Amino acid sequence: MKIVAVYSSKGGVGKTATAVNLAYVASRSGQRVLLCDLDPQGAASFYYRIKPKKSFNRDRLLQGRFEQYIRATDFDGLDLLPAHFSFRNLDLALRDEKQAKKRRVLGKLLQPLAKDYDYAILDCPPNLTFLSETIVTAADCVITPVIPTTLSLLALEQLIKLLKKIDCDRRKLISFFSMVERRKSMHQQIMEKYGGYPIFLQTVIPFMAEIEKMGLSRQPVGAGGQQSPAHRAYELLWQEIRQKKLAT
Ligand SMILES: Nc1ncnc2c1ncn2[C@@H]1O[C@H](COP(=O)(O)OP(=O)(O)O)[C@@H](O)[C@H]1O
Ligand SMILES: [Mg+2]
Repeated sequence: MKIVAVYSSKGGVGKTATAVNLAYVASRSGQRVLLCDLDPQGAASFYYRIKPKKSFNRDRLLQGRFEQYIRATDFDGLDLLPAHFSFRNLDLALRDEKQAKKRRVLGKLLQPLAKDYDYAILDCPPNLTFLSETIVTAADCVITPVIPTTLSLLALEQLIKLLKKIDCDRRKLISFFSMVERRKSMHQQIMEKYGGYPIFLQTVIPFMAEIEKMGLSRQPVGAGGQQSPAHRAYELLWQEIRQKKLAT
């Protein structure tokens, strides 16, 4: 099982849209996928119309007793571990153990699921905290959506700094331009300047009303069976990520 984290310290850059749609695209291609909603806001769970069971919480997650809380989605091959409000304190709960040991905790928790899934895709909260360190440590691949704006690039720089600080392999990090509006000159300029850097994938995800409307349809793009340029864009993104970062 490969662990793919969709992560940025910045909110609103398209992490959840990416995690939700990549999980769907991957499952459609015959992979067994677990989407893990680690953001207490629960947006990924919302998109898949799934609520956690009442007895689920942060402690169950950290004790490793959470298999029973994994829920099937409406789509074959795609399961979801829902978020819980108590996940907002995951950092606090991790505080007691030794730094280096703690950092591996998430990978260890997910390990027993390796036989059941080809991919665990993590939708991460926009933090730059100890939880972020456990996420990037556990991940085989960290995908960072970057809106072509200065602050979004700054979040990518901070992440590179974090990986360096904790001595984590920087090659696992990959980025792509998200919510791109080509008529905006700043988007064009930033993509021209940085798009050639090897950290950036060639595929970009444009700003598309269809993606925004997921909040109403509450399903991944293309799931309604209609022609979907947005679904195609995520298919291309997933293909490129697999080729560049997940080839075994
Ligand atoms: N490519 C896109 N085109 C249009 N709207 C998008 C796109 N990606 C995300 N959105 C919308 O932007 C908002 C923030 O996206 P989201 O995925 O929730 O970001 P994050 O998880 O990084 O906070 C949401 O309302 C979402 O529907
Ligand atoms: Mg989100």
